Amino acid sequence: MSPAVAVSNREEATSRAVATSMLSPRFYRTDYAALDRIDVTPLRKEWQTLLDEFRNDGNRNHFERDEAFAGEVRELPPELFNEFLDFLISSVTAEFSGCVLYSEIAKNIKNPEMRELMRFMARDESRHAGFINKSLKDYGLNVDLAQLTRDKKYTYFAPKSIFYATYLSEKIGYARYIAIFRHFERHPEKRFHPIFRWFEQWCNDEFRHGEAFALLLRLNPHLLRGGNKLWIRFFLLAVFATMYVRDHNRPQLYEAFGMDPTEYDTKVLAITSEITKQVFPFTLDLDHPRMRAGLDRLSRLNLAGLAARERGGLSGHLKRFACAAGMGLEFARLYFLPTRPNEAPQDVRLSPAW
Ligand SMILES: [Fe+2]
Ligand SMILES: [Fe+2]
Repeated sequence: MSPAVAVSNREEATSRAVATSMLSPRFYRTDYAALDRIDVTPLRKEWQTLLDEFRNDGNRNHFERDEAFAGEVRELPPELFNEFLDFLISSVTAEFSGCVLYSEIAKNIKNPEMRELMRFMARDESRHAGFINKSLKDYGLNVDLAQLTRDKKYTYFAPKSIFYATYLSEKIGYARYIAIFRHFERHPEKRFHPIFRWFEQWCNDEFRHGEAFALLLRLNPHLLRGGNKLWIRFFLLAVFATMYVRDHNRPQLYEAFGMDPTEYDTKVLAITSEITKQVFPFTLDLDHPRMRAGLDRLSRLNLAGLAARERGGLSGHLKRFACAAGMGLEFARLYFLPTRPNEAPQDVRLSPAW
């Protein structure tokens, strides 16, 4: 099920980015005073090493186009083009969401260590969003980022929810970028747009952002124990399921990649889950047969709900409601599946060059 309405101008691209849906990336606000109180002293050495990496800024010149770029942008069949635009718009929104969150935190706190970190991450996300937006601009469909900042609805998250959600988003972002890059290394003939050539070094930024949140979690060990384990489980499932459902909503895109979305997502979830052992006291059992069946059911219900929305009318409305309720129930079932304990969280640093 491709996105129902094709985007044909900048205003429509911006509206698509501004719109809030169950699967679209969101913008966040948080409790800045609580972040101000974070003391990095217990992990000063690790903090310095990480901040030095940010200062060195290895990707300083990476987000610039080379001479071959323009010649590699080709015309795509309409359905694929529609899904590729949806992919770019949702990616630019997600990258810019990080930029807005990190800049707002930097602006609203006085803690010099936290402020420096947030400024570095905002710098990176701003480059990422800008680079994707340039590709949208080639088609005259770039998102108005100033309007997006103004008009997008903001969701309030307590700092711990920001930590869990952002840690997972950054690590899953890393795994997605590198998995796509490696796929096109094996199948260069399938690479239908030059932007994918940038994903290898790009993934290092996301990996490092994830490392920053791993440190923030380790600085607050109470967030990894007791009742907070229920929140960790919730965010693991929410982030993983959202990706699975969204990717299965873009069949033409994955066909053009020459990839099976289920295989791709299985690999991305396995990499991400392995990395999270560095902080989380357990992982989801991704190999549990009911986990796979449940994710597929969520995806089918989502597609049926979208089809019902297009059909409209009372029956469409009722069907949509039934699908949403079914998704809620399935999510709850998956939430209560047994997890795999990870007794000794350790500093797992998978090489970004994986
Ligand atoms: Fe990014
Ligand atoms: Fe990031």
